Amino acid sequence: MEFAGLCARILLFAVASIVVSAQGSDGDISFSIPEEKKVGSVIGNLAKALGINTKQLSSRKARLDVDGGSKRYCDIDPNTGNLIVAERIDREQLCGPKTVCTLMYEIILENPLELHRAAIDISDINDNSPTFTVDIIKLEITESTEKGTRFFVNEAHDADIGVNAVQSYRLQDNEHFSFLFHSNPGQEKYGELVLQKKLDRENQQELQLLLTAVDGGSPPRSGSVAIHVTVLDANDNAPVFSQPVYKVSMPEDAPIGTVVVTVTATDDDEGANGEVTYEFGHLSNDLLELFSLDPRTGNVLLSGALDFEKEASYEFRIQAKDGPGLASFAKIIIEVVDVNDNAPTIHLKSLSNPVPEDTPPGTEVGIINVQDKDSEKNRQIRCSIQGHVPFTLTPSIKNYFSLSTSGPLDREHTSEYNITITAVDEGSPPLSSSKTFHLSVSDVNDNPPVFDEQSYSAYVAENNKAGTSICSVTARDPDWRQNGTVLYSLLPSEVNGVPVSSFLSINADTGVIHAVRSFDYEQFRSLKVQVVSRDNGSPPLSSNATVSVFITDENDNSPQILYPAPEGKSLMTEMVPKAALSGSLVSKVIAVDADSGQNAWLSYRIVKSTDPGLFSMGVHSGEIRVQRDISESDSMKQNLVISVRDNGQPPLSATCSVYLLISDNLAEVPELKDMTYEEKSSKLTSYLIIALVSVSTFFLTFIILILAVRFCRRRKPRLLFDGAVAIPSAYLPPNYAEVEGAGTLRSSYNYDAYLTTGSHTSDFKFIRSYNDSTLPAGGTLRKSPDDSNIITFSDAGEALEVR
Ligand SMILES: *[C@@H]1O[C@H](CO)[C@@H](O)[C@H](O)[C@H]1NC(C)=O
Ligand SMILES: *[C@@H]1O[C@H](CO)[C@@H](O)[C@H](O)[C@H]1NC(C)=O
Ligand SMILES: *[C@@H]1O[C@H](CO)[C@@H](O)[C@H](O)[C@H]1NC(C)=O
Repeated sequence: MEFAGLCARILLFAVASIVVSAQGSDGDISFSIPEEKKVGSVIGNLAKALGINTKQLSSRKARLDVDGGSKRYCDIDPNTGNLIVAERIDREQLCGPKTVCTLMYEIILENPLELHRAAIDISDINDNSPTFTVDIIKLEITESTEKGTRFFVNEAHDADIGVNAVQSYRLQDNEHFSFLFHSNPGQEKYGELVLQKKLDRENQQELQLLLTAVDGGSPPRSGSVAIHVTVLDANDNAPVFSQPVYKVSMPEDAPIGTVVVTVTATDDDEGANGEVTYEFGHLSNDLLELFSLDPRTGNVLLSGALDFEKEASYEFRIQAKDGPGLASFAKIIIEVVDVNDNAPTIHLKSLSNPVPEDTPPGTEVGIINVQDKDSEKNRQIRCSIQGHVPFTLTPSIKNYFSLSTSGPLDREHTSEYNITITAVDEGSPPLSSSKTFHLSVSDVNDNPPVFDEQSYSAYVAENNKAGTSICSVTARDPDWRQNGTVLYSLLPSEVNGVPVSSFLSINADTGVIHAVRSFDYEQFRSLKVQVVSRDNGSPPLSSNATVSVFITDENDNSPQILYPAPEGKSLMTEMVPKAALSGSLVSKVIAVDADSGQNAWLSYRIVKSTDPGLFSMGVHSGEIRVQRDISESDSMKQNLVISVRDNGQPPLSATCSVYLLISDNLAEVPELKDMTYEEKSSKLTSYLIIALVSVSTFFLTFIILILAVRFCRRRKPRLLFDGAVAIPSAYLPPNYAEVEGAGTLRSSYNYDAYLTTGSHTSDFKFIRSYNDSTLPAGGTLRKSPDDSNIITFSDAGEALEVR
């Protein structure tokens, strides 16, 4: 185009100079022709215009002259004399936007030489369409752009001129833009897109418009340009939460890191404008420790431990913000759900400690308060007492329980209790706790002292020293301190008309009983006293026991010879017939011993005799017998010294002399007067006779009795008494003392041995009294007054059955 323009300008200059030079010449010829005529098209008849005929025209060598080598465009048809189009004439090329476009020629005629000037006006035809400088107009408009904003658009160009040039613009129908064309004369022409309605990227990101320019030719021609509008995003949308309020519930034991809630906000904007980040609204420090927020995902995480008991619900706001900072808020409500995470706690509010043991059942001794921080079922509590204790819990007002006794208390049985109270709530699983507290039971003087035995027996040997302790009694009182402190005393009484206190005393603290004086077995053998034990309570309680003191025999009496009378007092002489045969009884020594038992068991021995071997002595009977037949040679007067010894330890003994006269005739006896004297003086002789008679009668009775027993009681395995005077050789068992001590008989010992011994009465009595504590009324043994030591035993039948 530019090149064409330049050429046109050169040509124009040439034409102009021609015109200037031709103006000086004669008569101008002008023609007019539209551009773009076909080659050969007739512009006009030159011959006619010159006023010559066609022949002349060719003969005179008419020709068109153009300056330089520029294009001629036109030519002269010599045959017709017409001026014709020789090549394409493009007005736009020749003259561009000039409104007048004229081709200037000089027509030269020879013979004669003539010079004419010819001008050809080239008129415009609508052969060019409007064109825009670009094919696409790209516009980027922010969606936030205000209504009425204008956007410059270059005008369209049309090479044609006049009406053939661009006459109007047409914008494709759309709702956002209108087109305004400015064509004020003298000013630059341009078009403008005017925003009629605000753009919305979120609705439509791009607009394609077609702007068409139309010229005024006939038919009109048009050219279009596409307008491509890109709607640029403006941060015109705040993020929007999916719900305005997020309400969630969380168990209080939810572990750290649990996602509490996920908030979501969307932003329709794009890029940074649509990038949503989350953050907490104003949150207290406490809450900040509890919750954390992922700014990208919107996850609210638990970062601390919830505690329903501290805070049952939380409420805060979360902000969603896009890049440039548009924000919106959502409310988060977190309800903490109670979990049974608190065990009940037990508080002892009051306790009467110690409790007296005589507290009646049902007495309140304490108040207990139970609490549980959880709620509802988790704080329903059941309370119980562990183990078997005489206490019970009864619910009182609200969460108070009353602890009371449910049974009798006995300090002596249980002096203290560890009461364990367990509280269990109703949660699932239930939680429990327990508390143990100590309760003491205080003493009440409710127990009298009690003796270990109701009756005591004590044995003391006679001739004891005054002050000897005989035995001790013990009474126990399980009460506490002075209520259990025992004091002993003797109950005042009399023994044989003498106050008991002159025989015995008791240590008030130890219960040891002492002999106040020395006892004599021969005087009395036992005494009985009541001991009282009393505690120190107020009022005191007491009890009593019997103490029987048995005095045991000691060998403190030597045998006393009853017959013959002691030496010196009188001289007793026995007559022995000369014909006395061996074995015949001559006389009998009778002795007694005030002691008893072994101590009174006498044995007789001849210690000295005139003719040893003539007389023998019954060791236990005291009988003096002739050992061999008396002969004539034997001395008439025989003298025996006899020792009587008891079996005590040590033994005591006495001696006596017996005078024997071997004679048949009393007259022979020179010392007969002695005999009469004897008869007169000695009372002992009569005693002796009585004794002998009674012994004989008793012996007979005894034999009859035994026979009767034998016949009446056949079933009896054997009879123990073989004979009252049969004294066994092994009379004294070596373990005699042991039998006493153990209170039982050794199987190897036979009762026979006991019962046949006259001197054994006290021992037997001893055993009996051991068993029965007291002697039966008829159970006493009597010693026969004579020296044969034969015993009577009134309930002998019973005694026989002992085995
Ligand atoms: C009570 O508990 C204490 C301390 O645990 C213990 O020493 C005592 O023996 C207990 N008493 C009873 C009666 O169980
Ligand atoms: C002894 O018992 C009485 C009640 O009988 C009581 O008051 C007192 O406290 C008791 N003494 C002691 C030391 O327990
Ligand atoms: C001794 O105790 C008994 C019962 O234990 C009682 O019957 C009696 O009266 C008491 N005697 C005295 C003297 O206290």
